[in-house]
Amino acid sequence: MSDRETATELPPHILIFPVPLQGHVNSMLNLAELLCLSGLHVTILLSDYTHNRLLRHASLQSRFSRHSGFRVATISDGLPADHPRVGERILDLALSLKEKGGSEFRRLMESTDGLSDGGARRRVSCLIMDGVLSFTTSVVEEMGIPYMYFRTISACAFWPFFCIQEIMDAGEIPFKGKNEDTLTYWKKKEMDMMVTSVPGMEKVLRRRDIPRFFGVTNADDPAFQTMKTDTKKTVEACGLILNTFEDLEEPILDEIRKHIPNLYSIGPLHALLKARLELEGMESSPNHSSSFWEEDRSCIAWLDSQPTCSVIYVSFGSITTLTREELLEFWYGLVNSGHRFLWVIRPDSIVGNYSRNGKEIPVELEEGTKSRGCMVGWVPQQEVLAHPATGAFFTHSGWNSTLESIAIGLPMVCWAYFADQTTNSRFVSEVWKIGMDMKDTCDRIIVEKMVKDVMDVRRDEFLGGLIVWQCCRGRRSLKGDLLT
Ligand code: UDX
Repeated sequence: MSDRETATELPPHILIFPVPLQGHVNSMLNLAELLCLSGLHVTILLSDYTHNRLLRHASLQSRFSRHSGFRVATISDGLPADHPRVGERILDLALSLKEKGGSEFRRLMESTDGLSDGGARRRVSCLIMDGVLSFTTSVVEEMGIPYMYFRTISACAFWPFFCIQEIMDAGEIPFKGKNEDTLTYWKKKEMDMMVTSVPGMEKVLRRRDIPRFFGVTNADDPAFQTMKTDTKKTVEACGLILNTFEDLEEPILDEIRKHIPNLYSIGPLHALLKARLELEGMESSPNHSSSFWEEDRSCIAWLDSQPTCSVIYVSFGSITTLTREELLEFWYGLVNSGHRFLWVIRPDSIVGNYSRNGKEIPVELEEGTKSRGCMVGWVPQQEVLAHPATGAFFTHSGWNSTLESIAIGLPMVCWAYFADQTTNSRFVSEVWKIGMDMKDTCDRIIVEKMVKDVMDVRRDEFLGGLIVWQCCRGRRSLKGDLLT
């Protein structure tokens, strides 16, 4: 039997390539596991940096040891090991990958004969890749490998990304003047003008809600140009996968389908994976973490000692950074609300000098936290959201966090930091009506009011909205056409 015939008896081999950041890797690992459960061979391509973080803090090996067809491959992201890879500096990652990723990817694919593992696996049969990684396409096209995109953002954020040229043609971006400080700039009235050039969003999207990567004053900005050209390239792929569900985003998905007919809405992936594992009689263990930081499980013991629905969980995701002023506004707002809070403050998330135990923290904050709060560096988020003591989520509106909150039925207060988050938070408040959008304000009085609203005054209103989406999702939770 020839090598070629032997290879065709092996299962198809899918290469999954996420942007090497926490939120992207989380969704892509869920997809990888689902594909393994369907009997496919899967390789996930990580940056060395990300892989090391997972080896230190996650349980990748134990999670995937039950899937013999799973492998990890790595390449360099081109940045020095001590680059912070958070906040605005995250754009360096996109630019570094664009510059150096193509040659790294080519070297990997050619030196391993398409990751065929000496013939134990087929050469890669299909590439599923994230946005801003289009440097891979010339390599896979030469090797005859079809590719699909999996954008880990919502449909409502992807769609304005896709329409950037139209938004520019309408003169709605780039924005004018940026000499003021950031807060003054975004407070300008003109940011409330509706965006007219994104079909289906004319009544919802204001300028301040456009994905924040486009909030530039210079259309030649390299990161802006990368997002713009890469997103348009989606039409050249065999298809697009989105981690969303039809009932939640149907009108926008319909708009996208006019340009990309092979659009698969297979989310929420974390819930789909849980259901599939249960169906297969496998445990979906909360210990199967894919965290880049060490999870501090003391927060679960703390939650165990709190009354039902009494705690607001606060986390601004894996990339957000806060200035000391912002930190203090949130902190005063939380303490003054009188509600209990569990707050994730990543070790790398505060800009400049700040010490929790230092004398510069006002005594009333320390005392308010001691009696009603818990602050940790990183938590097992899905476990925290599902905990009976958790009553609401104060979030940066990252798409994974938003979906995890919807799936478990928690109302949200949204403080979007950048990127897709500014659009997600608008949809949470104005379309899905399951929370409030603090957009472009960071003020202790507003924080206090919104926390009181979400935990008490307007709670039933948001829970009503959440029940609608949960019913829809329940009806269709095992849909996932692509995966069956
Ligand atoms: C950013 C984007 O804003 C997001 O929309 C995009 O899809 C990926 O990049 P990020 O800041 O990582 O994402 O937020 P999010 O998408 O919400 O992902 C964070 C993930 O980390 C979630 O899956 C969450 O459960 C997990 N997490 C967060 C923890 O496990 N523990 C924590 O303490 C905080």
